[in-house]
Amino acid sequence: MGADRVAAAFADERLVRLEGFHALKHALRFGAEIVAAATDDAAALDVLAQRLAPDVRDRIAAAVVERPLAPLVARPPHTGVVAVARRPPFELPPAGGPPVVLLEDPRHLGNVGAVVRVAAAAGAAGVLTTGARDPWDAAALRGSAGLHFALPVGRVDPGDLGARPLVVLDPAGADPFALPDGALLAFGTERDGVSAELAARADARIRIPMRGGVSSLNLATAVAVVLYAGRSGFSQRSIVQTARMPTDS
Ligand SMILES: C[S@@+](CC[C@H](N)C(=O)[O-])C[C@H]1O[C@@H](n2cnc3c(N)ncnc32)[C@H](O)[C@@H]1O
Repeated sequence: MGADRVAAAFADERLVRLEGFHALKHALRFGAEIVAAATDDAAALDVLAQRLAPDVRDRIAAAVVERPLAPLVARPPHTGVVAVARRPPFELPPAGGPPVVLLEDPRHLGNVGAVVRVAAAAGAAGVLTTGARDPWDAAALRGSAGLHFALPVGRVDPGDLGARPLVVLDPAGADPFALPDGALLAFGTERDGVSAELAARADARIRIPMRGGVSSLNLATAVAVVLYAGRSGFSQRSIVQTARMPTDS
């Protein structure tokens, strides 16, 4: 791909931006369609790929063109590679099965990315968000290390959350219990917690126990605790089976 076409792809706002080696690696593993990719040092990138991701090394080498990154992205990543990919179509995950995470109006895109990353690792069925922030923003993709491509991630209307049992996570909630199958696990906004509207619709409102004096956990940490506590007793095998994992690595 010529330098002009790479620059044009990076300016296309319909595409999503992958900044850094790990984002590109995961995106490729989970089936992303890479439209353009660039590195400022193809030899160094190949050494990194050989060491950290031999399974996608050839695809990385085939995707990248060597060129300066500064005109493409504001802050070139230290791993020296950036890419743009097609955003996959989003559909609400079907009812039942593993839990779905709902983030109500998250403000910090790094948190959104960290949530997508742990949701992918734990085999959640999807991550939904409400509010103004785009969960596919480049900052969120940096936080997820490209794992957005491993499960459905999308913004939803608060009135259209599907028919899953709604379990709201709230530091002031009741003691935790075994999660219902196919739960929609809802987490509130960083500063203010869950809205009164969402809390009123909940089938249950539960807390993660904390030592006295501690107000709350970080949003992404709370999601990690609940997903893994909900899965305790599940085998590693069942986690891998529920995730979208098209390759053998
Ligand atoms: C940083 S916290 C929000 C803190 C907010 N002041 C509140 O009281 O909810 C962000 C979200 O993480 C979840 N969370 C954090 N700590 C929790 C806990 N101990 N129990 C249940 N949920 C928690 C909740 O969903 C919360 O809305």
